[in-house]
Amino acid sequence: MEKLTLKETVAEHTSSWSQGRLTLQNYQGFWNVQNLHEGTVLAQQSFKAQPSDVFICSFPKTGTTWLKALAFAITTRQTFDESMSPLLTTLPHECVPFLEEDLGQIEENHKKTNFPLVSTHIPYPCLPKSIIDSNCKIVYIYRNTKDVIVSYYHFIRKWLNMRVEDAPFEEAFLEFYQGISWCGPYWDHILGYWKASMERPGKILFLKYEDMKRDPTSNVKTLAEFIGHPFSMEEEEAGTIENIIKLCSFENLSNLEVNKSGKHRPETSTSIENRLYFRKAKDGDWKKYFTDEMVRKIDKLVDQKLSGTGLVLN
Ligand code: A3P
Repeated sequence: MEKLTLKETVAEHTSSWSQGRLTLQNYQGFWNVQNLHEGTVLAQQSFKAQPSDVFICSFPKTGTTWLKALAFAITTRQTFDESMSPLLTTLPHECVPFLEEDLGQIEENHKKTNFPLVSTHIPYPCLPKSIIDSNCKIVYIYRNTKDVIVSYYHFIRKWLNMRVEDAPFEEAFLEFYQGISWCGPYWDHILGYWKASMERPGKILFLKYEDMKRDPTSNVKTLAEFIGHPFSMEEEEAGTIENIIKLCSFENLSNLEVNKSGKHRPETSTSIENRLYFRKAKDGDWKKYFTDEMVRKIDKLVDQKLSGTGLVLN
């Protein structure tokens, strides 16, 4: 493995609303937290994708946990039926390895099995070159910007052990609006994948969190077909799709013991309680947090950024 170099880090920012507890690095135009920045550089330097790999790509807090659970349940359904799925006892993030932190495990998977799923928050322009060269399939999930901001605020706040009273939402909003957030700017993250999907038709599937909630059946069918595990007629008639949707639902996953009391990466400095991945899963929760001025500002910015792309985020 080549030596890790961080020479392209150009700026550092300590979030004011985090009372100095959250420092982000800017690398190749995007912000990241320290250990994931290092993981990104390491992946860029050494990761060798295989053409059969399927990447679950997302900006944090857009529905990654849900998409990982669904993709895992779809690809492993011949091995485990819903009553004995590893998802009942394991956090979805441990079922699907994360490129920035689980390089070793992914390399083992490549050697031992043909388990194809890998997840990442790395922006498209920063992806390891071998992912692009191998022409791997990518599934990208995105979500209403305002709900992402609220979800992000609570996730980071709880991760840093901060009380709401000590972490002003207005400041967190302003930073996100300026593009300074873990993996931000959000709109640039989306646009990188969106433009690539135009250049690589059939290789990048875009799923919208709100659409998946509104119509999970057709979205799960689309996902299964795209990742090469379509449902047979017999499976459809036997209710396999509905069973997978139920298994991966917020109501089910968030009430499992492992997701209520377990810890993710307990041995590391970024250890996190599993329950932080499950908050409300509600569309429009932002209405409780945003002032009219915030709505006006962010809607205007996002409309400008996505103008002419066909994507709607507000
Ligand atoms: P909220 O904070 O709005 O509740 P990510 O998985 O990318 O970190 O995103 C987390 C968001 O997805 C959180 O949103 C979380 O509650 C929601 N979520 C987690 N599991 C889900 C599931 N199975 N179905 C729908 N939403 C889910």
